[in-house]
Amino acid sequence: MKKKMIAGNWKMNLSRNAIPQFFTELKSHLEPSWPDISEKIDIVIAAPFTLLDSCVKAAHKSGVQIAAQNVHEMSNGAYTGEISAGMLKEAKVHMTLIAHSERRQYYGESDESALKKIQTCLTNGLQPIFCIGETIREREQNQTAQVIARQLQRVLDSLSDCSGIILAYEPVWAIGSGLAASAEQAQEVHQLIRSMLDKRYGRAAAEATRILYGGSMNPANSRELLLQPDIDGGLIGGASLKAKDFASVILSAC
Ligand code: PGA
Repeated sequence: MKKKMIAGNWKMNLSRNAIPQFFTELKSHLEPSWPDISEKIDIVIAAPFTLLDSCVKAAHKSGVQIAAQNVHEMSNGAYTGEISAGMLKEAKVHMTLIAHSERRQYYGESDESALKKIQTCLTNGLQPIFCIGETIREREQNQTAQVIARQLQRVLDSLSDCSGIILAYEPVWAIGSGLAASAEQAQEVHQLIRSMLDKRYGRAAAEATRILYGGSMNPANSRELLLQPDIDGGLIGGASLKAKDFASVILSAC
């Protein structure tokens, strides 16, 4: 069976001082399965750039993987304020979110820049968690399937295989709203994503690719969401900031 992944997205939250305490608490809430639980579930924390180093240290030997929240598409050069894939690798970070809806919404990231970033990740041995999802307006206009197809197809057309990527379906209206997609709504879109993968790469590759759900996932709703056949894990914002809640979501995936 495919290993589920529970990934926290800290966004622009927490501070260096909070990190040792966070890991101590996470460990205490996951005991007695800590750290063996990471053999069953991939646990990831996507932290702000300046905290990556501290997180990598705190996560040492715990099995928790540390990810970035963004990466620049070029490998170096005059790109003030940006961070390259090589720099992340140097910081012992091997995974990053790509095209989170907040990046699309506030920083003008497009399907095209997402593709370039994904290609950069794959060339440099970083695993991308590629985020897609519709806005409330698009859902209300029954455009969810079209939006997902548009966001995903360009990437699928360009990659000859999907083994290096993880997908995250994050309906924009569910992010930070406290209003998660229902298990049925999420499953419907996950199934669509899986069928697109199947069409492009075949059944086995589609089945092996993880599709995470994100958007107000929390200890109260995670089990039901994670029981859906095409939901292979979660990308958790708010509920990943408290070790206790994050641990509950992790345990609900077991
Ligand atoms: P949320 O965020 O869990 O706070 O809704 C999810 C995300 O933005 O990845």
